Amino acid sequence: MKKSVLNHVKTLKQFHTEIYKQQEENHREHYCAVHDAIVKYWNLGKCQSYMELGVHQGGTASNILLQKPKKVVLVDKNLDLYREYLEPIAIHYCDQNDIDLKTKECESIDLYAMEVECDMLFIDSYHKPDYMIQELSTHAHNTKKYIIAHDTYSVKSLHECLENFAMKNKWEVLEYNKKNVGYTVLGRK
Ligand SMILES: C[S@@+](CC[C@H](N)C(=O)[O-])C[C@H]1O[C@@H](n2cnc3c(N)ncnc32)[C@H](O)[C@@H]1O
Repeated sequence: MKKSVLNHVKTLKQFHTEIYKQQEENHREHYCAVHDAIVKYWNLGKCQSYMELGVHQGGTASNILLQKPKKVVLVDKNLDLYREYLEPIAIHYCDQNDIDLKTKECESIDLYAMEVECDMLFIDSYHKPDYMIQELSTHAHNTKKYIIAHDTYSVKSLHECLENFAMKNKWEVLEYNKKNVGYTVLGRK
């Protein structure tokens, strides 16, 4: 994905507004619709803890931090882009708002990436169904309420992977969004 220009940004709110705007300019309208879905289900399910696989510069990470969650775990095999702009802003914001923020620089299917539990898991990493199956077997049993994945319309095999997973386990597809790259939302049955 294209990098956003964020060197002028000072606060978390500014960071999120700016990266949302630039990602929609770079990748067309509705590219960031998943941000709004994350907030919608976060509130519906009264979620408190969040895990993200695939952070990049931190667009969706900044989105969830603004909801003042209790706990956030960000996993990426390379966190350099996150460190460039968002990390200092996020650390300050989390200190001020009593948010437990953890980052893990590793493959999303590593044992080290695992957490005891979270309410919402967001997947936006390698975008291959065979790999997503491994992410689901690593993290879904520790996810209490929702699994949301980005790019499931541009890569339809990702949506099929999630549908199959839901059918075989006690999950259901709550939403399949087909605007721009799309997204899928699973909820616990
Ligand atoms: C599309 S970007 C994430 C975008 C981000 N969620 C946002 O809203 O701006 C994909 C990210 O996934 C990471 N990634 C790719 N494969 C991965 C893997 N196997 N394990 C962990 N992270 C991975 C890449 O390093 C990249 O930063």
